[in-house]
Amino acid sequence: MANTSEENSGNLKKQLAKLFEASLRETVPSEHDVEPLVAACTAKFGDYQCNNAMSLWSKIKGKNTDFKGPPAVGQAIMKNLPPSEMIESCSVAGPGFVNVVLSKTWLAEKIQNMLVDGIDTWAPKFSIKRAVVDFSSPNIAKEMHVGHLRSTIIGDTLARMLEFSKVDVLRRNHVGDWGTQFGMLIEFLFEKFPNFEDVNERAIGDLQAFYKASKQRFDTDSAFKERAQKAVVLPPGWRTQVPPSMAQICDISRKEFDKVYQRLGVHLEEKGESFYNPFIPGVIEGLSNKGLVQESEGARVIFIEGINIPLIVVKSDGGYNYASTDLAALWYRLNEDKAEWIIYVTDVGQQQHFDMVFKAAKRAGWLPAGDSMFPKTSHVGFGLVLGDDGKRFRTRATEVVRLVDLLDEAKTRSKAALVERGKAEEWTEEELEQTAEAIGYGAIKYADLKNNRLTNYTFNYDRCLMIRKSGKDIEELKKIGVLVLAHPDERALGLHLLQFAETVEEACTNLLPNVLCEYLYNLSEYFTKFYSNCQVVGSAEETSRLLLCEATAVVMRKCFFLLGIVPVYKI
Ligand code: ARG
Repeated sequence: MANTSEENSGNLKKQLAKLFEASLRETVPSEHDVEPLVAACTAKFGDYQCNNAMSLWSKIKGKNTDFKGPPAVGQAIMKNLPPSEMIESCSVAGPGFVNVVLSKTWLAEKIQNMLVDGIDTWAPKFSIKRAVVDFSSPNIAKEMHVGHLRSTIIGDTLARMLEFSKVDVLRRNHVGDWGTQFGMLIEFLFEKFPNFEDVNERAIGDLQAFYKASKQRFDTDSAFKERAQKAVVLPPGWRTQVPPSMAQICDISRKEFDKVYQRLGVHLEEKGESFYNPFIPGVIEGLSNKGLVQESEGARVIFIEGINIPLIVVKSDGGYNYASTDLAALWYRLNEDKAEWIIYVTDVGQQQHFDMVFKAAKRAGWLPAGDSMFPKTSHVGFGLVLGDDGKRFRTRATEVVRLVDLLDEAKTRSKAALVERGKAEEWTEEELEQTAEAIGYGAIKYADLKNNRLTNYTFNYDRCLMIRKSGKDIEELKKIGVLVLAHPDERALGLHLLQFAETVEEACTNLLPNVLCEYLYNLSEYFTKFYSNCQVVGSAEETSRLLLCEATAVVMRKCFFLLGIVPVYKI
C-alpha cells in the first residue's frame, strides 16, 4: 500500500480496508498498526472478506484478553465496523472470516457516477510523478527478434497503465548502438569504404548480410578483431573514430524498427546506449570514490554480496561495456530525468545483470535499501522465445523468423478468416485491411500478454454497443436514467465492473499485464451471461440495462486501450 496514495475513490478493496482498519483499532486497541487483510471472496458467502481474525488471535491469545478464540475475534471485528452505505450485510464464517456483501444500490450508484464523471475516476493513484519504462531496445544493424516483440508489447502496456495512473512516463528505447559489435561494424565500414563514401541503402545492400559478413571477418581475423575492439575503447577520442557512414547504418536500422512500431501502434523515444557514453567516466569515478570499485585481473569491478561473479565496469582493455552503460543510464535517469520508478523489460536471461546493477546502485546509496520505497528499479523479465529446435531463438542464427514476417503472417491469417466469412464482398478493401490488422496484431498482443490462458475467445464487444442500435441518446439516459442491479447476473457484472480499479492498480503495481487480460476475459464472460439471461431492448428495465451495457463498453474499451489492442467494432 506504500505505493499508492490514500484516497482511492474507485478501489473497492481499499475502501473496505479503511473500514476494517478502523474496526481493528477499536477491536484490539493494544495492537498498533495491524494491517487489514481484505480480499475478494472465493466462496459464495460474500463479495469480500477480512482475514485478520486468525493471525490476530495468535498475537493476543497469551495476553490479557476476553476473546475465547478466532471466531470471537471475527465477531468483534464485524461488530466494530463503522456504519457504511457500501455494506449490505456481514457474517462471520469458519475460524473467523468476516464476509461482506456489498450493497446493490451503492454499487449501482458508483457505476452511474463513473458513467457521468468518466473512467479516469477509477484510475490508480500513485505517489510518484515520473517513471522510465526501458523497453523494446533492439540492436542497431541487427534484425528485431521476437524477444524484442515481447518487450515492445509488454513495455507498451506497462507504460499505458502508468500513464492512465497520471504518472509521467518516459518511454525509452535503449537501442544497442555501441559496444564490440558496433566496433566490428565500424571497422568493416573502414575496410569496405576507406574513403568514407556515401553509404546508402544500396551500397550496404541487405543490412543483415552486411552484419553477417562483418561478423565472419571478426570471427576469423584476429587482427581485425583487435581493431574492432579498440574502435570502441573509450575515452579518449571515441567520437572521431566513428565513420559518418555509421550514422547511415543506424538510420537504415531505425527505419526498420519504426515500421514495426507503427504497425503495433507503439510510441517510443530513442536514447540509445551511446547517449550515456559521456557520463560513464564520471559515474565510475563517483562509484570509485565511494570505495565500490576494485581491481580484479586487470579489470575494474564491483563485488556484489551473494553473487559469485563481480560486475565488470571497466574491461581489462580499458573499454566500457553493457554494465558501464547501464550504470550511467541509471544514474542519468535518477538524477537528470528525475524518474522515481525505472522499469526494464527484457528476457529473463538478463535478470542477473540487472540484479547486479540494482544492487550496486543500492550500495552506492542511489536507491533506498528496501524494495518498497521509491525511487526504485524493477526488472520485468519474460520467458525466452524458443525456436522449433527448443533452442533460444536468435537473430544471428542462419534461419530465423523475422518479426515483420510474424506480423505479416498474423495479418494474412486473420484476413483469410474474414474472407472465408464472406467479408470481402461485404466490406471495402480498406475495412478488410484494417480489421485484419486489428485482429491479427491484437491476437499477437493478447497471446503475449495473457500468459495464462490458451483458449481462443471472441469478445462480444459490439453487443455492448447495443445502445447505438437502440436509438437512445446515452447522454440523456445518463442524466435521467437510474441504474439498478436487480437480477443476479446484473449484480455480478456490476461488481466486476467496479473491480476494474483495483485490478489495474494491482496489474500496474506488480507489473503484471496478464492480470488485466484475465479481468477482460472474465468481464466478457460476465457480460455474455448477463446478455443471455436479461433482455435489454424492449424490456421494462431497458434504460437501466442500457446504462449497464454502456458502462461495460466504457470499461472494455479502457482495457483494450491499456493492452494496446485496437477493438473491432463489427465482425
Ligand atoms: N539491447 C538489449 C537486447 O537486445 C536490451 C537492452 C535493455 N535495456 C537496458 N537498459 N539494458 O537484449
